[in-house]
Amino acid sequence: MQEIKNKIDTLTAELKEHNYRYYVLAEPVISDREFDFLLKELEKLEIQFPEYAHSDSPVKVVGGAITKNFINKKHIRPMLSLANTYTEQDLRDFDERVKKLAGISPQYVCELKFDGFAIGLTYKKGKLTQALTRGDGISGDDVTENVKTIRTIPHVLQGNYPDEFEIRGEIFMHRKAFERMNEERVKKGEIPFANPRNSAAGTIKMQESTEVAKRPLDCFLYNFIGDEKLFSSHYQSLQAAKSWGLQINDATKICENIDEVLVFIKYWDSERKNLTFETDGVVVKVNSYQLQHEIGFTAKNPRWAIAYKFETERAETKLLSVDFQVGRTGAVTPVANLEPVLILGTTVKRASLHNNDIIEQLDVRIGDTVYVEKGGEIIPKIVGVDLSKRPIFSQKLDFIKVCPECGATLVKQEDEAAHYCSDEDNCPPQIKGKLLHFVSRKAMNIDSIGEETIEMLWEKGLLNDISDFYKIKYEDILGLSKKTVNEISGEVRFISLKEKSAHNIISGIENSKNTSFEKVLYGLGIRYIGETVSKKLASHFKNIEKIISAEYDDLTSVDEIGESIANSVIAWFKNEKHLKIIESLKSNGLNFEINEGDKIVGENKLNGKSFVVSGVFSKFSRDGIKETIEKFGGKNSGSISSKTDYVLAGENMGPAKLEKAQKLGIKIISEEDFLKMI
Ligand code: IVH
Repeated sequence: MQEIKNKIDTLTAELKEHNYRYYVLAEPVISDREFDFLLKELEKLEIQFPEYAHSDSPVKVVGGAITKNFINKKHIRPMLSLANTYTEQDLRDFDERVKKLAGISPQYVCELKFDGFAIGLTYKKGKLTQALTRGDGISGDDVTENVKTIRTIPHVLQGNYPDEFEIRGEIFMHRKAFERMNEERVKKGEIPFANPRNSAAGTIKMQESTEVAKRPLDCFLYNFIGDEKLFSSHYQSLQAAKSWGLQINDATKICENIDEVLVFIKYWDSERKNLTFETDGVVVKVNSYQLQHEIGFTAKNPRWAIAYKFETERAETKLLSVDFQVGRTGAVTPVANLEPVLILGTTVKRASLHNNDIIEQLDVRIGDTVYVEKGGEIIPKIVGVDLSKRPIFSQKLDFIKVCPECGATLVKQEDEAAHYCSDEDNCPPQIKGKLLHFVSRKAMNIDSIGEETIEMLWEKGLLNDISDFYKIKYEDILGLSKKTVNEISGEVRFISLKEKSAHNIISGIENSKNTSFEKVLYGLGIRYIGETVSKKLASHFKNIEKIISAEYDDLTSVDEIGESIANSVIAWFKNEKHLKIIESLKSNGLNFEINEGDKIVGENKLNGKSFVVSGVFSKFSRDGIKETIEKFGGKNSGSISSKTDYVLAGENMGPAKLEKAQKLGIKIISEEDFLKMI
């Protein structure tokens, strides 16, 4: 029995540690699968031996007691909101007011403004004892049981925490989780939530915490309320809270003056589209507690903090019609034609509807009044329908059945959202897509051939499949010309192949014959065969014959090759036309087996070293650098963690990354340093 108790204790401690590493430090040391495995093991033991289960066990956070009615409780201090600002001038005015009241130019802390709903967590002797919603600011609902289901909110703190304090923050839902949840709601015939904020708020107010646990909520904390003598600044309090296991957002940054604040805002205004959650602005706070006291409050808001709201990018307009576009991969995208509407200074006439699932989810119909969003350079998209304005007798929108480009039937795999044209070899956008993929940098790297050249050679009948590249002669292409019209500006241009370009094309094609097998394989454009998979296939099977004759089991025995990839490879090589292409390429001298010569000298110079490449570089492209790192035995990673050895920093590297690297004491090197290393 003691043995079982020990096992439960160890598993509990281990899982808590992993939760902390995953959610708070963003430095997981085990995979999600391994985590789930450990969690299941603990769960099994707890069911058999509930007497040994900890009250704050990681298993508990996926369900718990039922809270019938929420009890309204008074906040120890009113839960204030912030004054909003929308322009640079507003912020400069705020800075002037602050400077006047403080008598100096203060340091600010900039934080993202999370688009969720406010929560106040009370910890006593390191244990989470209460979670109150904002309510009317004076008193709120006790939603402790529901809040306990959020994995990133620790039930028990670690480290050197004060005896009693409150910490306030925002509960929210990640975009992906929100989309998944809405998909499920639609399937069940329920009305989808309009945005992640509503769904997070709706979720926390659910009566059953087991239901809450099924909806993945998250929480960032941003306001310590307790003995202020412990810290001299807001930033210090957040750092301490982080060390107790509480989740503080990584973007949080000290700015020395209002100009730095504006840089922070500009950065996140464009970068926010890459976040997994929504942020609707930036909160600027005076860092020093002493100055906060001196500056004080108005009746409603602190005078030492302000919220800057990003411009909203949503507009309302009418859906006129829907076109279906076939992309280079054969995926069919429904595109909405809209009544022109101005969003952030540009007129939007078209928006993506993505796929049939989205059409069904939104139940969008011709004639509907729709909400359109536009963020940065992302194509505008329809995010909702105003059902109250729906015309009577509107009809459900049907997805087309055949390819609008070539007439072939469309197919849809169960686990994919997109419809695809089934005739990859005879559908013009797909043919051009394959040709373009073949010459691309990561495949044959023929940089003298771009989209316009391919378009021209295809129109002249010189290119029908990838093997035709090696049949092109200098005389065939010299002097070829084509009229191009810019879709947006309407500008008309003529391109023509003069001696130099024609020569570059021919020599580019000739040089590409030295490309390694794995890249040739990738260049064939077989569905699901990306760079990594083609490397795996090439190094496992060594030559094309073995891949052609490989059966399902041979393929799936290779690391990371699953059902879809195996089926795709088998189907591709079954096609006679494709085998002819391979034969033709082979007769032109392309590599269809692994050469020992593919390995380069000095390969091991970066063996086992982990790199994060960030920013813009002058000598190489970012992909070029990453490729070189791998060639020399190093590894690339997208995010900085304690396991990172080097951060290769180019220009305009994100401040959050830089700060994280500095905090973790990771070596930050320049492009020049890197060249010296290899
Ligand atoms: S500080 C006295 N920081 O936005 C300080 N609020 O209108 C009060 N919010 O009520 C709040 N992100 O619900 C603060 N990083 C952040 C925030 C944040 C989101 C919410 C919060 C607040 C409202 C301000």
